[in-house]
Amino acid sequence: MLTDRDYRAVFEALPDATLVVDAEGVIRDLNPSALLMFGWSREEVEGSPVEMLIPAARRGRHDQHRLRHVEASSPPSMGQGRELRAVRKDGGTFPVEISESPGNLTSDPEHVICTIRDITCLERMRWLSRMKVTAAENERKHLSRELHDEFLQFLVAFTIRGKLLVDERDRDERERAWEVIADEILDAIRGVKRMIRGLRSPKLERQGLVSALATLFRDCRKVHGVTIHASVNLDWVADELDPVTILALYRIVQEAVTNAATHAGVSEAAVTLRSTDGAIIAEIRDEGRGFELPDSRAATDDDHIGLTGMRERAESVGGSLLVQTSPGQGTTVRAAVPMVGPEGER
Ligand SMILES: Nc1ncnc2c1ncn2[C@@H]1O[C@H](COP(=O)(O)OP(=O)(O)O)[C@@H](O)[C@H]1O
Ligand SMILES: [Mg+2]
Repeated sequence: MLTDRDYRAVFEALPDATLVVDAEGVIRDLNPSALLMFGWSREEVEGSPVEMLIPAARRGRHDQHRLRHVEASSPPSMGQGRELRAVRKDGGTFPVEISESPGNLTSDPEHVICTIRDITCLERMRWLSRMKVTAAENERKHLSRELHDEFLQFLVAFTIRGKLLVDERDRDERERAWEVIADEILDAIRGVKRMIRGLRSPKLERQGLVSALATLFRDCRKVHGVTIHASVNLDWVADELDPVTILALYRIVQEAVTNAATHAGVSEAAVTLRSTDGAIIAEIRDEGRGFELPDSRAATDDDHIGLTGMRERAESVGGSLLVQTSPGQGTTVRAAVPMVGPEGER
């Protein structure tokens, strides 16, 4: 038969943070796991309102279903934890799952036992799996657009021209028609190659982000005659980034640099990449002709696949993209992508 002291020892040994809260929402007892989780001492917490463990900004919301007594008529909510955020003594917040069960304690039947689990890892995994699904979905959209633009258009033209070729009686005309078709086939081959390059980047996989960017900027000068003034300060974080984020950053810079080189009418552009406060900021700036920014609905339009693609890339890794431009005012593309996860999940 276990004694009261044994039960106390069980409470103290529980690996989950466990609190006893009275009907007024005051903490009456807690175990060492709870003290460790929140960073307070027993004296600081016992007798204090349970709200001290909830971030200030969320207290109002939490009031409706907070950690206090469960109505006598309610079934126990143990095992049906709710997701909330909690705050440590040092002010850091983290996601938690809270299970409450009526204590049925002899001293006060209104007391509630709350078990609190830190679910930071779980949330991060959920976020990553959401991101993976979104990234795959975006790739599919991108691929279908490319197939439509590059390949379908060609096949349609090819059937028409093929029919004309078969019907052509004049030999010279037939040869000319064939030359046009051969040119279009070469174009289509180039298009498919471009598409394949767009899906994966052997250069990036071989060289890593910083060096692949340097090659990209060099190529820009060679191919378009546009000099890129680059300031890339990522050496110490680039290795820590996950491959999906790296690819997104690379593709965004690649598209924005190509846009500056082909549309802005400039001989130079500036690119900066830096890490700040858990995010990577990539900025591509040209002082060229700028353009009328389409509204967000038109931005999904087929004329702006590059711009839409950049935004989708940034969002697929939990980031955002801002384009500042107007005719004659140059263009700035600014992408911010989180290094680990969305705000607050670090
Ligand atoms: N840096 C820039 N300077 C001037 N015009 C730009 C710039 N970037 C984009 N644009 C304009 O926005 C249009 C859409 O760009 P984008 O979506 O990348 O498509 P694409 O490059 O295939 O034309 C371009 O055709 C161009 O008119
Ligand atoms: Mg473009």
